[in-house]
Amino acid sequence: MATALKLRFYGDPCLRKIAFKVASVGPAERILIRELMRAMYEFEGSGLAASQVGINEQIFVADAGEGPFAVINPEFIKKSSDETVMEEGCLSLPGIRINVKRPSFVRIRYLDEDGHKVERDLTGLLAKIFQHEADHLFGRMVIDYASKDEREKFQEKLARLEEISRVGIKVA
Ligand code: NI
Repeated sequence: MATALKLRFYGDPCLRKIAFKVASVGPAERILIRELMRAMYEFEGSGLAASQVGINEQIFVADAGEGPFAVINPEFIKKSSDETVMEEGCLSLPGIRINVKRPSFVRIRYLDEDGHKVERDLTGLLAKIFQHEADHLFGRMVIDYASKDEREKFQEKLARLEEISRVGIKVA
């Protein structure tokens, strides 16, 4: 069964909202998480935030190749001063890749889908995905990190996505 969730694109106001903290993790959150995971694989992404499907809650799912996991109410406890650049794509910005500089190590805290508190140290791809998805929950997107040249290069694509978001067309 195809996902019932509708992916939102650049220009959609829901991608710029600050998501609400989840008060308690219950059946509704677990259903949403399951649907987000299903949609993430269907869209072939390595992460998907609730904001990207128009749901304004601090929830995202990710899979860096070691299986999926859900993150609720993420917090950063520590970020390394050491930063590395990685080219990042985003399901809400199809056809666009941006070089993003982020801390290479983060210590994070969140609730898992059972409502249990989790604390983890992340490096490598997982650290990047986590920061990318957490950004979504605070209304930030990779395009915000783009250099002037990158922004110019993608100007037409961005304008088209804004148009799609404005008229509400679902593109395959
Ligand atoms: Ni994204």
